[in-house]
Amino acid sequence: MQNPLFSRRDFLAGSMASVGLGSLPWPAQALGTGAIKTPPAMTLTAAPATLNIVGDEYPNTDLWTYNGSVPGPLLRFKQGETASIQLANNLPEATSIHWHGIRTPNAMDGVPGLTQNAVEPGETFLYEFKTDDAGTFWYHPHANSPEQIERGLQGMIIVEEAEPPVVDRDVTWVLDDWRLDEQAAIVNQFNSMGEKAHAGRYGNAITRNGTRQRDFTLRSGERVRIRLLNSANGRIFALKFTDHAPWVIAKDGHGVEPHPAPDGRVIIAPGQRIDLILDALHEPDQNFDVLDDSNPRFTYEFQKLVYSDEKPLRSEPLAPPKQLAANPLAEPDLGKAKRHNIHIQGGAHGNLAQAKLQGKSYDIQGLVQRGKVWALNGVAYAGPEDQPLLQFSQGETQIITFKNDTGWPHPMHIHGHSWQVLTRNGQPMPRKEWGDTILLGPEEEAEVAFVADNPGRWLLHCHVLEHMSGGMGCIVEVA
Ligand code: C2O
Ligand code: CU
Repeated sequence: MQNPLFSRRDFLAGSMASVGLGSLPWPAQALGTGAIKTPPAMTLTAAPATLNIVGDEYPNTDLWTYNGSVPGPLLRFKQGETASIQLANNLPEATSIHWHGIRTPNAMDGVPGLTQNAVEPGETFLYEFKTDDAGTFWYHPHANSPEQIERGLQGMIIVEEAEPPVVDRDVTWVLDDWRLDEQAAIVNQFNSMGEKAHAGRYGNAITRNGTRQRDFTLRSGERVRIRLLNSANGRIFALKFTDHAPWVIAKDGHGVEPHPAPDGRVIIAPGQRIDLILDALHEPDQNFDVLDDSNPRFTYEFQKLVYSDEKPLRSEPLAPPKQLAANPLAEPDLGKAKRHNIHIQGGAHGNLAQAKLQGKSYDIQGLVQRGKVWALNGVAYAGPEDQPLLQFSQGETQIITFKNDTGWPHPMHIHGHSWQVLTRNGQPMPRKEWGDTILLGPEEEAEVAFVADNPGRWLLHCHVLEHMSGGMGCIVEVA
């Protein structure tokens, strides 16, 4: 059978989406530093738009966008500046904006029913918050997220360090994964039980900054900062920079002791950001692959690093990058910490026999009938009306031990805070590492610590969006 849009393998990947098969490489153009500088107030208008994301040889795609682009406008602030951003909703349904990774006051966190009322079609909402932490962050709706984010509502926020590292270019790579049909239309079926119970919505078209252009041009000798963000619903990327050794300088916005990515391979799960420094140390006029080998059976070429024929920018390699200045995060007091566990169960082939949903116990069939297939500490998340699963006293250090008792990876994300990763499977971390989204491998256990210093009721959930709607979330309360 003829498939005009995708190769057979590509199409297969789409139709077997929840298994997480690979897809074709379709890279894009760097946004470069062409940022929108936010004046005292700017408006993000969420509205339908029709754009070409898969290439001129294919039809355009009907999307939902911020200000008509995918990803939405790149927002840039200086550290400590106050962001003042109005959301205007021209969508056919209610929405909101969550400032993923930014420690906003609770009322600005953008979770309908928990921190604000949903913004109905035709309405506006003004978000204002101070950007205490420098780094690479994300914005996206927190209403009907599996559909709204898949349709294109999301964008990057950069909060500039007072003293940014010296680089020749500062570029963004917003990674996305779309499930499209033969006409390049978004497959209009969201949140299926198959996606919920497996790896979430996996697509068949991979984009970087909203297009499938594949070449990333480099000049020999230059040093580039690449801000990676995984904005996919479910896909985890493992980017292998062949014959290059990118430095990891920040995770989820926060500086980490610069270290070469192990094996030149950078794993990034939905909701995570990783800042790299890439030194182009090869001669002009050469090409190198950036592969995604997250699924070794379906490795594909995600990007090609294309060295221009210009003469090298410098003759000597630069010294290793310096560590970014620390953000003003309260240091956990481990001696006085309160301990909590989050036991993750469920999913396909899982061991979840029963769980509570809105106060009632159900066996797994009863849960599945109600669209739930995951539980945290025996409770399937229903929505913002749930009671908090964990209570934190304001100002006290908390340690959460996550135990992933499932066969699936989960990027667990907390709102309003950033945590320090203490251990993985009982082993201390090789270096101090902050974040807001921790990827737990199947059966993995990890401890994170943070000071609960931001009062309010906050979400904590898996950022595989179909897992969240399948029950993998909870409310935590700081009071
Ligand atoms: Cu990216 Cu609950 O958020
Ligand atoms: Cu998950």
